[in-house]
Amino acid sequence: MNNYFSIQDIDSLDNWVNEAIEMKKQPLSDKTLGADKTIGLLFFNPSLRTRLSTQKAALNLGMNVIVMNFTGEGWSLEYGDGTVMDQGNSEHVKEAAQVVSQYCDVLAIRAFAKLENREEDYQEKVLKNFIQYATIPVINMESATGHPLQALTDAITIAEYKPIHKPKIVLSWAPHPKALPQAVANSFVEMMQRMDADFVITHPVGFELASQITNEVPIEYNQEKAFKDADFVYVKNWSSYTDYGKSSQDQSWKITEEKMKLTNDAKFMHCLPVRRNVVIDDAVIDSDNSIVIEQANNRTYAAQLVLKKILEKN
Ligand code: CP
Repeated sequence: MNNYFSIQDIDSLDNWVNEAIEMKKQPLSDKTLGADKTIGLLFFNPSLRTRLSTQKAALNLGMNVIVMNFTGEGWSLEYGDGTVMDQGNSEHVKEAAQVVSQYCDVLAIRAFAKLENREEDYQEKVLKNFIQYATIPVINMESATGHPLQALTDAITIAEYKPIHKPKIVLSWAPHPKALPQAVANSFVEMMQRMDADFVITHPVGFELASQITNEVPIEYNQEKAFKDADFVYVKNWSSYTDYGKSSQDQSWKITEEKMKLTNDAKFMHCLPVRRNVVIDDAVIDSDNSIVIEQANNRTYAAQLVLKKILEKN
């Protein structure tokens, strides 16, 4: 594997999940694999979990880590081919990607959707240009349309907590005061189609994800009906794909104790950060069934597994 851009880069999901669970037992067992290698983390957007867990993963493998918050600190980048650069952008990605490649052995990038132009966001300009012009492997730390490190984390977490029977997993939309990208939901939906699960998506009308991502996954517009007998409830807000970037604060979709009682004692999952008492009631996130902290812990092992595979290949 050269790049980890999407979950399509996972060749055998079962093997990867099992390897990550084993790695979690002895996280320092490959401490020399990354010796004298450097990872560069470029952030065009804020982060807590992705930044620290990817750093931790690299340190567990003995790597050096360089972090740069690009927005506000890096030169503003131009991506267009043949652009006359007489406007705001100071540096072309062609040089930036090649220069960073000289300082690092692996590059990881976070660049969210701007939610202004769907076609532009779904072209994945930032990640795809860095992949094109960098001469080192590139890892997606959440791009405009996907968050594959989060989705791998979610698969690991579900494997750790899954019941004996084939689990029912519900992805539920929930309200949010800001318009959020579809990236986490997209990658989770893609991941669930690769897992042995009875998977359902529930959201209000108008919040359908891209059909090329949901494919044949059932959509249930009645949230309470969707929750019935669920073993896992994965909650995430996303803005509209069809009315691109439109948000909603419809509080009737908030996750409450009453709704969780409809489930089969379901585990509650969320990628975090989450707005308490807007997306989800305190009583749910603070309950014994909430596994969000362990889910966040697994971010390290997802990142470490991806890094290990890249280091072994390159
Ligand atoms: N879940 C996640 O990606 O968290 P951060 O935005 O804090 O990195």
